[in-house]
Amino acid sequence: MLLGVNIDHVATIREARKTFEPDPVMAATLAILGGADGITVHLREDRRHINDRDLRLLREFVPCELNLEMAATEEMIQIAKKIKPDLVTIVPEKRHELTTEGGLNVSENKELLKDAINRIRESQISVSLFINPDIIDIDISKNLGADMIEIHTGLYANSKGVKKREELNKIVEAVKMGNKIGLLVNAGHGLTYYNVSEIASIQGIRALYIGHSIISRAVLTGITTAVREMKEIIRLATRH
Ligand code: PXP
Repeated sequence: MLLGVNIDHVATIREARKTFEPDPVMAATLAILGGADGITVHLREDRRHINDRDLRLLREFVPCELNLEMAATEEMIQIAKKIKPDLVTIVPEKRHELTTEGGLNVSENKELLKDAINRIRESQISVSLFINPDIIDIDISKNLGADMIEIHTGLYANSKGVKKREELNKIVEAVKMGNKIGLLVNAGHGLTYYNVSEIASIQGIRALYIGHSIISRAVLTGITTAVREMKEIIRLATRH
């Protein structure tokens, strides 16, 4: 099973100060050295974290799968066709959401999605649709011409007890159904060091896409070294 690492949060920290660090392009390199099979970024309409420069450099830099998450808007379709990521994952996007809140409403956006899929695929880019673990939505995704789907695991991740079991079962059934009708099936959203095993043990998933939890852990595991390095610079400068 492949792991695509979402590095949006690295850019979120940079944008908190509108400065040059931390650079998501550097983060991508380190993630790949750590074994990431791919890098994912979400280019949002408001460019609140990843920007056009990041995407351009990442395309030059990333030797493995570059997955661009984007809304199916005219602007984003043009950008995808120009930059040519390996994969485009179409997601719903609301301006004020903290993160993607749910899967695409595929049944109500068939024409728009079909047109976007066709135009992106014309440029030899694979297209995935981010959808809820819903049998009907999977069938529609296939009919719209998607190469892959990404099953939204957020509801599973955020629920507890019996509800969590139910959500897990929905994901298991969704993966089976996707595989049966010839779609490649990915999964992601809300996966952490504590809940990933249950999802990773489902047979038939091609890739997991994980961001928040990995970047959160990186901040904590990196703090001791970062402080040590700053102390050393100060120590050297104050040695008289
Ligand atoms: N997959 C999709 C489609 C997403 O929008 C996101 C969040 O950007 C992720 C996966 C990763 O989710 P998380 O940051 O919760 O791991």
